[in-house]
Amino acid sequence: MNWETVADYAALSQRAAEILLAAIRSDPRLVLGLPTGRTPVGMYERVVAECAREYHCFRDVTTFNLDEYVGPSREYYHFMKRNLFDHIDIDPANAHIPDGAAPDLQAECIRYERDIDSAGGLGLTFLGLGGNGHIAFNEPGTPFASRTRVVELAEETRAANATPSTHAITMGIGTILGSHAIVLLAGANKRDALERLRGGEVTEAFPASALWRHPNVQVLVSAPFSL
Ligand code: GLP
Repeated sequence: MNWETVADYAALSQRAAEILLAAIRSDPRLVLGLPTGRTPVGMYERVVAECAREYHCFRDVTTFNLDEYVGPSREYYHFMKRNLFDHIDIDPANAHIPDGAAPDLQAECIRYERDIDSAGGLGLTFLGLGGNGHIAFNEPGTPFASRTRVVELAEETRAANATPSTHAITMGIGTILGSHAIVLLAGANKRDALERLRGGEVTEAFPASALWRHPNVQVLVSAPFSL
């Protein structure tokens, strides 16, 4: 696991955007795993600004979002349109988000896993970090081998995200670990979770610790958290 601390949130966003765009330049047909939440907003802003200058930035890129709430709100779908998809040249058919409003959620989860496979698997996946160590919506106790499925949200996650939703569709930890490379983004407000991750104990009680099992993980944190 490669740890990197940058000065502040602006630097975190800049660095993350650079990593994302460099990956697309070296593989224009990249398959990205993408997060929502407050942390990646600045990264998306910079990616949008940069792609306004570059020809065909996302033309051949495929994306898979990590998760979505169950219910009609499609909150993360709207978040992604607002923050990224409406401003780049991605083919909407290649921008995947689990459909939390699907009539058959079970079938939707199976379809999502199949779509990731058909795209050739995840190439580079960006993650945020929950205060309780969750990645995507994989709450403490999630088996590391888990795949895309419907989950119940922890009380503290609902409070942190100010959501009325009680359930979500999420990629599993096993799905995420299948990504060729992973970048975890965390602001200084995730200090406790970062310290626990840094401690190195690998346990299903702390989902992000699964990342120690992966050979290509970069953790990007902003000061004042220091290594
Ligand atoms: C939500 C998302 C996670 C994200 C987490 C952290 O629970 N489902 O994927 O990592 O929030 O969010 P934030 O960046 O807002 O702290």
